[in-house]
Amino acid sequence: MTNSLTHPKQGDKENSPWFNEFLIKLLEDRDRIGLTDMIRQIDALMITVEPGCSIAYIKELSLMTPYHYLVTLESETHWTHILRIDMRSPDILVREVRDPNVSGIFRSLNEVYPIGAHKPNSRYMGEIFRVTNLHEVVELQRAREIRFFNQDQIRKLELPGNLALVKPSPYTHNVVGYWERPESELRIYALGNSIIHNEVNKAYVEAKNIQAKVGLDQLILPVDHLATRVYSQNREAAILEYLTLSSYYYWGSYNIEDQNSSTNVTKSIHYPHESYSPAKVFTAANHPYFVNHIVGLPSPTENFVRNYGPRLHHIALSVADGETKGMENIDYVVETIRAQGKDFLLDVIGSKEEGLKQIFSSASEHSSLIVEYVQRYGDFQGFFTKDNVASLTMAAGVEENLKMLQAEATDQ
Ligand SMILES: [Fe+2]
Repeated sequence: MTNSLTHPKQGDKENSPWFNEFLIKLLEDRDRIGLTDMIRQIDALMITVEPGCSIAYIKELSLMTPYHYLVTLESETHWTHILRIDMRSPDILVREVRDPNVSGIFRSLNEVYPIGAHKPNSRYMGEIFRVTNLHEVVELQRAREIRFFNQDQIRKLELPGNLALVKPSPYTHNVVGYWERPESELRIYALGNSIIHNEVNKAYVEAKNIQAKVGLDQLILPVDHLATRVYSQNREAAILEYLTLSSYYYWGSYNIEDQNSSTNVTKSIHYPHESYSPAKVFTAANHPYFVNHIVGLPSPTENFVRNYGPRLHHIALSVADGETKGMENIDYVVETIRAQGKDFLLDVIGSKEEGLKQIFSSASEHSSLIVEYVQRYGDFQGFFTKDNVASLTMAAGVEENLKMLQAEATDQ
């Protein structure tokens, strides 16, 4: 039996006695009933985009990430494009709503937020976990009061029929799916007709040719972590809920005092390397927005959540440690991608001495997601330095404020 409580806790952010008590109780229970052993790695990440946006988004991902276009699953009102690196990292499903009048639950989650509503179909939906026994996992989770979409709802949502899907989290608005797959077998999505979409394929090939020509294909590695932003009062519940739904453990939390924020990390208990199953990070403000005028600090994290709703903020990709053409790899990657017309929110921050360097891209106009690049030096294990997170959070906040002003201008 796996023990989810063996890792020493990192970080300096204090948690409540309630969190500390239930962290132990939840993980002990999860281990004891066998869920920890049955729930394995993240097998896929699901993203939806606006009608007409998937080709451009896949072109962007083909340049900025190691993902390859594999196939498109065509169903009545959606295209679901499958992107893959290999079987040692999660797939990305890019789902395009073909008909702008389609109004499902994932759209509703955007519609009450001032910026989220401007791109109602664009959001990260959640991740699919590989499990060794789907029936048992679902029964055990139901007994723990986890709610699932029924088969009819999954069919209407045009999601793969071999998936058990948990209802969106009230804290993160993300979903978790489970499917059964022996490790040695390929991932099969039971949905629609499999086609190679000619325009997607053309965009993919073009982007990959550029990526190979400038040497990015050797430097950008799989997903390192996924960072979700939640309301300040939901921080502890969001972390513990994710540990309830997954086989992840609590790595620790860092207080980013100056930005009135904290970064909270959970990691796979089974796969120590993130490329196999990315870390899940939760970011929350230290204070809710209505005390900002008393606290007197900026509040970029809570602003983001108020503008978009709780949701995934960025997908971080690792950059290979080393140098290219006399530059550190991350600097070369960023300069090369900038030359292809993509913007970044700030310059590369951090240093070799501190252990890592990081940067945020501008949010994709197709998915609203930011890409983070992170290069670690030597055997550095962390996800950030405090100074880096403060700079990244601040830079994302500056762009946020601009978007809010634009949204207000178009709403009037
Ligand atoms: Fe990050």
